[in-house]
Amino acid sequence: MSNLLATKPLDALLQEARQEGEGGLRRALGPVNLVTLGIGAIIGAGIFVLSGTVAANFAGPAIVLSFVLAGTGCLFAGLCYAEFASLIPIAGSAYTYAYTTLGEIVAWIIGWDLILEYAFGAATVAAGWSGNLNALLQSWNVHIPPQLTATPGALVVFFDGRWSPLATAGPALAEAGIDPGTLPHARGILDLPACLVIAIITAILVIGVRESANFNSGIVFVKVGTVITFIAVVAAFLLRHPGVSTANWHPFIPPNLGAFGQFGWSGIARGAGVIFFAYIGFDAVSTAAQEAKNPQRDMPIGILGSLAICTALYLALGWMLTGVVNYKQLNTAAPVAMGIQATGVRWGSLVVMLGTFAGLTTTMLVMLLGQSRVFYAMSRDGLLPEWAGRVHPRFRTPWISSIIVGLAVALFASVLPINVLSQLTSIGTLLAFVIVSGGVWILRVRRPDLPRAFKTPLVPVVPILGMGIPLLLMLSLPGSTWLRLIVWLILGMVLYFGYGRTHSKLARQRGDTR
Ligand code: ALA
Repeated sequence: MSNLLATKPLDALLQEARQEGEGGLRRALGPVNLVTLGIGAIIGAGIFVLSGTVAANFAGPAIVLSFVLAGTGCLFAGLCYAEFASLIPIAGSAYTYAYTTLGEIVAWIIGWDLILEYAFGAATVAAGWSGNLNALLQSWNVHIPPQLTATPGALVVFFDGRWSPLATAGPALAEAGIDPGTLPHARGILDLPACLVIAIITAILVIGVRESANFNSGIVFVKVGTVITFIAVVAAFLLRHPGVSTANWHPFIPPNLGAFGQFGWSGIARGAGVIFFAYIGFDAVSTAAQEAKNPQRDMPIGILGSLAICTALYLALGWMLTGVVNYKQLNTAAPVAMGIQATGVRWGSLVVMLGTFAGLTTTMLVMLLGQSRVFYAMSRDGLLPEWAGRVHPRFRTPWISSIIVGLAVALFASVLPINVLSQLTSIGTLLAFVIVSGGVWILRVRRPDLPRAFKTPLVPVVPILGMGIPLLLMLSLPGSTWLRLIVWLILGMVLYFGYGRTHSKLARQRGDTR
């Protein structure tokens, strides 16, 4: 038992990072890179795809309050991440923090759990990216064989001049009174565009962290530009047509329809649980701590800066979106495009389309980067095989991990439905937030002496909120997602007891010295 709860001495960890020198990861990232890395991970499918569903089904114009609630939960956890990332500037993020505070088995659990956040997160976004590409190509009359655009067995129907998954076309068919069985249809074999986009991004990640960060920065510029353009165009429109927004924002909190989560205050809470997905990613900055030039100073800037910028953009976007289109009409996979179309600005849809692709691309990039860095850290500790941590002699990236992660993510994206993927991503991320927030508090008690470049304010209040709000959001997720989480964690335990425990460097060191 004591071995399972053995913690990795922090001083040894810091020493290890210093010793790694030339053969290790390259310290190439400055504060701007880190903030753009965070924004790269954060703005993606959540805002461009999910925001409409949340407004239409749960919160109405009060989606702005759902953003505030989810953003506040992230802020508390973000403050805790910032303290850890500046104190332990080592690859691995929550996994490494747990190893020094809560013990090896908790570290393993969180490392295994982070696969849900990063690998399943990237797979979710890849599936969304593929759906967007397919819609775009079909609008130009280019049709990929439908069997190659959907997960195995998923039904794809031909309706309104285009192939769409039944899950997407269903509401429109029901409204038109059409039986899907009467339409031309096909069964999915695999989602080929999702596989291809993951393959391309993996190649960039193998080539280098600086190249990846530059690629990310360029694209982040496009997507932030898109969000700002949307806000500016809609704001200008609403100033000219104040009657539109007055009608759409009234009532700002639509009355509850009788069940929990259907508008009213409970709808705002349920909306926050779903829209939380839009914030996932700021913590991914911390996985790159070992590649930051000055992590003590820049990690908090990267984590909190990207979170603050995205929160401000989300609030403004949610407010404008529900002002220009009535929330009841927003149940669509492309709500932001719908919003700009409503202003009558012709080039608007093109800009939003570009921004959506840009948004989804960098989210995948940063998630895949984070995943390979977590594996790198786990392999360095002996919990995963040595090859998982091997760094390429020229590119200085954990190339084998990156490629294996790429293959696994391509597989997940092409065979698992998007809603299963996205809910697993959310629950996995929330669990990581709980453990990291708890870890900050524990380390403050156990090692108050450590030189902390950034200190989480108001300990233990902030860590308690950093644990409490994510726990509440976890409870708002369906039982089936909990079940999948439990099965995933049991699988992780089997691997830990079958491999990690006996190969752990820490366990061997402790055994040697006994
Ligand atoms: N926050 C990321 C997104 O919305 C995961 O796509």
